[in-house]
Amino acid sequence: MVELSPSFEMECEVLDRDHKQLLRRINDIIAVIDGEHSDECAKLTPDLVNFAKQHFAREEALLTKVGYPDVKKHVEHHRALDRKMESILNLASVADDNPLAGKKLKSELVFFLMDDIINADLDFKSFVEDKQQESGNSSGP
Ligand SMILES: [Fe+2]
Ligand SMILES: [Fe+2]
Repeated sequence: MVELSPSFEMECEVLDRDHKQLLRRINDIIAVIDGEHSDECAKLTPDLVNFAKQHFAREEALLTKVGYPDVKKHVEHHRALDRKMESILNLASVADDNPLAGKKLKSELVFFLMDDIINADLDFKSFVEDKQQESGNSSGP
């Protein structure tokens, strides 16, 4: 089971909630592969991919709202992950009959979450944190 260390938290509720949900879904997929129910990959993985796309859209809207200067670059990064998700879906569709594909799927999913999703987001962590604090102060007494 994969866990998220506190250094990977964004200190932004809506993004942390999504990242934890992604982690939960990936752990579920790893569990069905390890528990010899890899047939369920064919359903759980498309659900994960749909959720990841929703997360990217939510995150892009938030970055635009707070005026993050590199929002375009991060949107392009997300679009590059769309292609990676295609290969993840392909692996998931054959994982039931192919233990090697199941094994590869597990490592791809962990890399996808930790490196592509969470590590890349750390680029804007402090910017979003500062903006949250500013808006917290301005709405204060
Ligand atoms: Fe994210
Ligand atoms: Fe992101």
